[in-house]
Amino acid sequence: MPELAKALPCRKGELVFWTAANEGTYLVRNRHAGQTYQLGEEEHFLLARIDGRHSAEQLCLAFADHFGQPLSAEELEEFLDLGNERGLLQPAGAAATAGCISHPSAQPGGLQIRPTIRSALLQRLAGRLLAMLAAMVAWLAGLLQGAAQRIHWFRLSRLDYVARPNDVFIVTYPRSGTTWMQMILYQLTSDGSMDFPHIAEYCPWFERSLRSAHGFETRPSPRLFKSHLPYQRIPKGPCKYIYVARDGRDVAVSYYHLCRRYNGYQGTFAEFFELFLRGKVDFGSWFQHVRAWWAHRHDPSVLFLTYEELTSDLEKSIRKIIAFCGFNVPPERLPGILQRCSFSFMKQHETQFDPALETLWEQGIQLNGFLRKGCSGDGKETLNREQLARFDARFQKELGRTSGGPVRAPEPAVLTS
Ligand code: PPS
Repeated sequence: MPELAKALPCRKGELVFWTAANEGTYLVRNRHAGQTYQLGEEEHFLLARIDGRHSAEQLCLAFADHFGQPLSAEELEEFLDLGNERGLLQPAGAAATAGCISHPSAQPGGLQIRPTIRSALLQRLAGRLLAMLAAMVAWLAGLLQGAAQRIHWFRLSRLDYVARPNDVFIVTYPRSGTTWMQMILYQLTSDGSMDFPHIAEYCPWFERSLRSAHGFETRPSPRLFKSHLPYQRIPKGPCKYIYVARDGRDVAVSYYHLCRRYNGYQGTFAEFFELFLRGKVDFGSWFQHVRAWWAHRHDPSVLFLTYEELTSDLEKSIRKIIAFCGFNVPPERLPGILQRCSFSFMKQHETQFDPALETLWEQGIQLNGFLRKGCSGDGKETLNREQLARFDARFQKELGRTSGGPVRAPEPAVLTS
């Protein structure tokens, strides 16, 4: 138990303090040793007052006064041990030269470091170091992400894209009804059949679609693109933009579920919501995205719609789109289009809208070809004479002479049981 009336040791002269990014946390650096530690509010308060002029009693009173709760002698002792461990306090004997009183544990009759406290302190220290390491890694990851984003913007600015007047961009902050709008436009500009592997085949993701970027020019008009670009980044031209906004609270919920299912996000909704509010999610701030597009809602090239108006009166919204884009859609087609754009119909064809399959499609992987034909004889049809002969020779060598095993069938290279 420390002697409360006794003067405390003195912190080392080479310490520098500053506030950390997280509220209520501080960093202290021992310039001499080159080590930095993170301190909580209470530790910072104590260390700042361990200046060789306060007794333990004075410190405890000041602590209680400041934080409204007492600091026990054991807690103070623990803190002194920790400070000593970290080399933040004057070692024994140095006090005289520094004009401070050294750590009591270094003096006969001073504090005894109990093993349990010691290991707890070591654990705390290790925990803090790990936390600092994690903060540094997160900081580095942020830097890399920023750099990747800039490279992406740069590549985008170099994209070989020449706008056409009848190009239509569907632009949204994610989870606001993009896919729905893709389907609506697909239905309005095609015969509406569902025989495409993925909706991206017809309406690619502009900024992500490196594969189709090369083929932009060869696509027939009217070209449809989906995009999540903010207003400032969208390619400007004589084309049309349909922006769909959705209630931000619904976007946050929908985005959270997407991240959990597709991006391996493990956090709670409450954690995700904080990130969303601060714009610390992949597509940045929902508020800024919507605000910038909203400012252009009256531009002749922009049709600003909301998810909510699509849900409350889809037909009216579709008529607006037809008028805005100047499409020629016979009225008798409307009921069929409305039915295909319903949630239930799209849900039945969910894989054709699935973002995971879109990624595969972007990579050039052909979808819907995994279960191909399911019949025998394709090999004989496909291999040429030379390939057939080489296969047969290899078959003879590897399997042909196996006694009791597979025997040669009338056809070369076929196993019979
Ligand atoms: S993404 O990931 O940005 O492409 O997502 P996005 O397509 O913008 O938004 C997905 C949400 O839109 C809903 N959706 C629909 N709602 C009503 N009717 C139809 N036909 C429809 N099609 C897609 C989809 O269910 C997602 O919302 P939540 O709330 O998650 O269900």
